[in-house]
Amino acid sequence: MIFKNKKKEESIDRSKRILPVHVGIIMDGNGRWAKKRGLPRQAGHKVGAATFKKITRYANSIGIKNLTVYAFSTENWRRPKEEIDALMDIFYDYLIEALRDFSEENIRTIFIGDVTAFSPKLQQLIHETEAISADKTGMRLNIAMNYGGRDEILKAVREISGEVADGTLKPEDIDAGLFSRHMYTFEQPDPDLIIRPSGEYRTSNFLLWQSAYSEYVFMDEILWPDFTTEDFERALDEYSRRNRRFGGV
Ligand code: IPE
Ligand code: IPE
Ligand code: MG
Repeated sequence: MIFKNKKKEESIDRSKRILPVHVGIIMDGNGRWAKKRGLPRQAGHKVGAATFKKITRYANSIGIKNLTVYAFSTENWRRPKEEIDALMDIFYDYLIEALRDFSEENIRTIFIGDVTAFSPKLQQLIHETEAISADKTGMRLNIAMNYGGRDEILKAVREISGEVADGTLKPEDIDAGLFSRHMYTFEQPDPDLIIRPSGEYRTSNFLLWQSAYSEYVFMDEILWPDFTTEDFERALDEYSRRNRRFGGV
């Protein structure tokens, strides 16, 4: 983990820790994980999907209220067709499994991003998963698929300018609150903590509007398929050491 302070790291009392309400995870490093083992990149995505299920359940069990995971970006279409096809198969298998198991999980799932780019079959499963979990009272899970922060901001601008053009909204009434309500994450608080494993120190177009004051924890020693519940705990420890000021003192 970068920015680590060994002395402070030892002194955290987890029972007294302040938990973030909303956590974002950039699930990165699947391809490198596979390459290190001489396997095709797809193999990394498969293990990464299992890690995702494990961390999601764990986050709900410890009381995280909102979790947003970055599963596929608007830029990931640039990858070879073979890898994209494999990812679509993994999403499909996950959704079939989620639909079967969701009666036991108290998790409400929504998908953020432009899902109309996916196959009709996948879109159908996405809608069914959202519908079947809509009444759940536990953690709210946002799965970012064909998601891009810039794309989301442009969507908001299009919607808002449409309202201005038809006279239902005045330009002077456009403020941050109104803009936030045009994001895919409307009604949800902004992410407090964003975790990125794999050693890349960038946002890669994740939650651009919402992350203005998010705390980032870059865990450069770990690739997503190897990410454990203890790694998640370590990120929460690090979050609880941060001093958030939001521009104040
Ligand atoms: C993240 O892992 C998963 C997706 C982007 C779908 P990567 O596939 O980016 O793995 P690396 O970064 O190449 O190791
Ligand atoms: C970000 O990872 C997208 C997801 C994890 C889904 P990438 O691997 O696509 O990001 P870059 O290309 O390294 O910035
Ligand atoms: Mg990557």
